[in-house]
Amino acid sequence: MTKQSVEIDLPDQISPDRLPRHIAIIMDGNGRWAKRRRLPRIAGHRAGIKAVRQAVETCARLGVPYLTLYAFSIENWKRPHTEIRLLMGLLREYLKKEIEELNRQNIRLLVIGRIHDLPKPVIQDLQNALDQTRKNTGLHLVLALNYGARAEMVDAVREIVSRARQNGTMEIDESLLSSHLYTSGLPDPDLLIRTSGELRLSNFLLWQAAYSELWVTETLWPDFTQNDLYQAIIDFQKRERRYGGLGLS
Ligand code: IPE
Ligand code: IPE
Ligand code: MG
Repeated sequence: MTKQSVEIDLPDQISPDRLPRHIAIIMDGNGRWAKRRRLPRIAGHRAGIKAVRQAVETCARLGVPYLTLYAFSIENWKRPHTEIRLLMGLLREYLKKEIEELNRQNIRLLVIGRIHDLPKPVIQDLQNALDQTRKNTGLHLVLALNYGARAEMVDAVREIVSRARQNGTMEIDESLLSSHLYTSGLPDPDLLIRTSGELRLSNFLLWQAAYSELWVTETLWPDFTQNDLYQAIIDFQKRERRYGGLGLS
């Protein structure tokens, strides 16, 4: 099969009426991509932005309503200062450059994570991007920044306890807890993708991914193309989701 025929083929195998409502991606492998090329790690992060653009554009075009990208975890502060500073710089550059394109594609930006603990200039650029894309009605692009699922649950419990102190007792159930997570109002991810072959969640959406379909590829994030995303969606559409029941067959 030639490369060209593969490109024409894959999108045709996707059923538009059974698209995942929410795709979440652990974008991993930028450092290894750079190492293989004897480049500094930041070159991998920079190359990863191209893959971000492609994934965002593909989801918007297919009509996937929500795409969440794990961009910086709460544990990533353990990395060297220089890498963190360069990552924050890249994020600011992306936000500034991309607003126009996001608006052109009718994409609304959202963020999840302990945003208030990010550097001030990053918060300002984020706020600006959120404000400028607020009215868009197409794809919701959710950036997970300074995000950790355990921190998210701790923050939710703190909020619930402080409300309960004000209002007297409170009925605690799953929907109450969900409504206090950063992802309140967003559907749970149907499809969770991880690049670079690692078989772990790394503190990403632990509550929300309870019944997500997992799809892992050896491909490193900067090499992740539109075709990889098509393939993930095609495989997702072949899965039988049972949610603990007996399913259809
Ligand atoms: C993922 O790539 C990007 C971030 C965590 C910001 P890595 O930087 O983790 O790349 P590897 O895992 O070292 O290859
Ligand atoms: C997960 O990747 C975090 C992001 C993609 C932002 P990591 O590279 O930080 O995860 P571990 O350390 O391999 O588990
Ligand atoms: Mg990694």
